Amino acid sequence: SLQGVDIRAEIDRLRKERNAVILAHYYQEPEIQDLADFVGDSLDLSRKAAETDAEVIAFCGVRFMAEVAKILSPQKTVILPDMEAGCSLEDSCPPEQFAAFRAAHPDHIALTYINCSAAVKAHSDIIVTSSSAEKILSQLPMEQKIIFAPDKNLGAYFNRKTGRDMLLWPGACIVHEAFSETELLKLKALHPDAPVAAHPECPAYILDHADQVGSTRAILDFALSSPARTIIVATEPHIIHQMEKAAPQKTFIGAPGADGNCNCNMCPYMALNTLEKLYLSLRDLTPRIELDEATRLAAKAPLDRMLAMAS
Ligand code: 13P
Ligand code: SF4
Repeated sequence: SLQGVDIRAEIDRLRKERNAVILAHYYQEPEIQDLADFVGDSLDLSRKAAETDAEVIAFCGVRFMAEVAKILSPQKTVILPDMEAGCSLEDSCPPEQFAAFRAAHPDHIALTYINCSAAVKAHSDIIVTSSSAEKILSQLPMEQKIIFAPDKNLGAYFNRKTGRDMLLWPGACIVHEAFSETELLKLKALHPDAPVAAHPECPAYILDHADQVGSTRAILDFALSSPARTIIVATEPHIIHQMEKAAPQKTFIGAPGADGNCNCNMCPYMALNTLEKLYLSLRDLTPRIELDEATRLAAKAPLDRMLAMAS
């Protein structure tokens, strides 16, 4: 039983004892964000995982993120507090179906969002994140035929933004699809001076009302640098924790779902990680990410391309 265990103190003791680094995504609960060694967006977290000297990476995020850490740092032990922490985008793109789709379009390259399994990465040419996609697209000729998977909303956003016609895999993030345009318009009417910052995983009917569109880190930077006193945030609401810490004088409002509040927009996969499970994973060094070497190497090539093209 964990009764009487000071979980925070134990996490601190174990992180030193195990030479572990705790990496966390902005969608994790505040308690986890606050004790992490580093909190970031998917690109920043990939870079940190690639360059850390720690022997153990405790990844507080979802499974594909921990897999990226293992792909880039195979000699390290990578633990994920809950191995069930998946992603609806990953689920929407089974590797065999993706491979068949690629085979049906042999003249296309596959530009693949990092939110997918290692097996799908292994079938891809270049990985992108929301913060690196534009820079990477700018290095590809306009006539290049491209499959973009698995997020149709993100792909459609980059198609609109860059004037391309990428072929889109029909996946979506359940969190960003849950925002309601009607409720967002009602909220905007109540706060006419509040800008809206949105993640490009949102459908176009939400992005159409956004003043700024970008990755979680870009949304955070915008929220902190904007002169506005009130800001509407259309992404997973746990990121508001960082905003409130850095700018307590401002008001941050999570964009609403159909029920009129932002609670339905919490990521159920991210929520599986808890302080208690983080403690247990550091204590037992499990659940651990393991990948077969052929898949790892095949997935590493398109990830390395991203890191080179995004730098
Ligand atoms: P970024 O942090 O790269 O914006 O990704 C958002 C997301 O949905 C992660 O699952
Ligand atoms: Fe996947 Fe969406 Fe959750 Fe991110 S927020 S992990 S994209 S389901």
